[in-house]
Amino acid sequence: MKIIAINGSHRKGKNTAVLLRAVLDEAGLYGASTELLELTDFSIKYCTSCNKCLGKSQCSIADDDMTIIAEKLLEADGIILGSPVYFSNVTALMKNFMDRTRWMYISKSLLAGKIGAAVTIAGLRNGGQDVALHILQNFLVANNLQIAKARDNDSPISFPGVIGTLQAGFKDGQIVWYKSVEEDEIAMQACKKLGESMCKLINYRT
Ligand SMILES: Cc1cc2nc3c(=O)[nH]c(=O)nc-3n(C[C@H](O)[C@H](O)[C@H](O)COP(=O)(O)O)c2cc1C
Repeated sequence: MKIIAINGSHRKGKNTAVLLRAVLDEAGLYGASTELLELTDFSIKYCTSCNKCLGKSQCSIADDDMTIIAEKLLEADGIILGSPVYFSNVTALMKNFMDRTRWMYISKSLLAGKIGAAVTIAGLRNGGQDVALHILQNFLVANNLQIAKARDNDSPISFPGVIGTLQAGFKDGQIVWYKSVEEDEIAMQACKKLGESMCKLINYRT
């Protein structure tokens, strides 16, 4: 069982990576082999809208790192996407990654049947996480992945995905910030549940 995480953060190893790592670590306890891919480590050109993928499951751009990532996506049983919220949206890195996967879905749905999940983090408590999460999950649904929720079937507590924040609260009219999303206990718990749910769904499917 292989689960990969794709981090769309422009800051390697920071809050989005912390959430993704927490999901992967929990999945590891359930027997998954895991890998975290930081998109900042890869050179990914923009989709040129050449539309050649409409006729053939292949991208006309073959001289960048998307070929490496594509191979890992195709091999994985589970795919987690993570993005910080940038203006109530995903990052440009994440969006560019999504566009370049078009050949894997447009003429043949090559990622269909895998298990997908999404995590987001914003500075503010209501900083646009819902919208970013929806964008990530919508991409997974478009690719015919089954979305794992952060829940187990024996519990009434369910999150559609992981929503992290750096806002601990307010004091004297000022925002009080967490130093890291690791202090956001709800998000960290949701990460664990998500790792567990992904593994259970993968095992159930196979
Ligand atoms: C360009 C930009 C736009 C941002 N937009 C939002 C926003 O709309 N809402 C919000 O609460 N935080 C926003 N943030 C804050 C980030 O979501 C937050 O710092 C997040 O932790 C970054 O994740 P990282 O630690 O993985 O880089 C923005 C940050 C940047 C750089």
